[in-house]
Amino acid sequence: MKKQLFALLFALVPFTAMAAPAADVPFSMTPDLKDEASLQRGMQLYVNYCMGCHTLEHQRFARAAEDFGMPQDLVEQNLIFSSELAYNDQMHNAMGREDGANWFGAAAPDLTLHGRLRGGDWIYSYLLSFYRDPSRPTGVNNAVFDLVAMPNVLEPLQGVQEKVCAESDRPMEGAELDPLTGKYQSCDVLQVTRPGAMEPDEFEEAVYDLTNFLVYVGEPSKLQAQALAPKVLIFIFIFGVIGYLLKREYWRDIH
Ligand code: HEC
Repeated sequence: MKKQLFALLFALVPFTAMAAPAADVPFSMTPDLKDEASLQRGMQLYVNYCMGCHTLEHQRFARAAEDFGMPQDLVEQNLIFSSELAYNDQMHNAMGREDGANWFGAAAPDLTLHGRLRGGDWIYSYLLSFYRDPSRPTGVNNAVFDLVAMPNVLEPLQGVQEKVCAESDRPMEGAELDPLTGKYQSCDVLQVTRPGAMEPDEFEEAVYDLTNFLVYVGEPSKLQAQALAPKVLIFIFIFGVIGYLLKREYWRDIH
């Protein structure tokens, strides 16, 4: 019986494997690939604000639509803007990689695998960490990606974010802890100084949805895998019980 238990435990190991630890970034997010509404909003934001420069070479509109429960005509009317793209196509754009490199000094990378490469926490933090920096050609810099070549395309939604001297609850590099208030004094605190179309918490939700979508794109089959996992476990369990009963039956006369 002990042996069977070990075999069962072994079979369960892949399901308990932990996700990679988050990199050293200020914010964290927990992706929810079951939240279809969030994934739909994320895809919409992506198509509107990111697809002009970035491609998703390995992601088809049709696959995302099926996974998020969106009807084909809705996707065709609201999410496919180019006449060169069709429902079954990958999410390409018209900008060549060289154009990007010439215009921005760096090519906008394909983002299909970025959710896996950088992880949700990193992308989420990156999109929240643009701040005004007049010394940069784009007018912005990024606290997570210094000297970034990407402009802050979400500024109309977020508003103008700047580095200010303020108190923060969060320990930061070079920040001093004020023993009286228990807060950190730093001149690197990011603060929205001119409001955009969204309130700060609304904007954080939008960036969450966008990140959720990019994490999904990195591994679309994870949705199916998650749906399948409990069924596999139930199967293993039932099969284990049947196997054990069968073994008892076989050995009954011998013992
Ligand atoms: C105007 C063109 C443009 C738009 C629009 C744009 N980006 Fe970028 N993006 C770039 C460029 C250029 C880089 C490369 C930056 C660098 O290497 O300095 C980049 C880099 C990135 C990176 C990767 C950084 C890394 O190397 O890991 C991510 C993630 C990213 N963009 C996400 C987005 C998202 C999400 C949107 C939509 C909200 C978006 N981008 C919209 C031009 C753009």
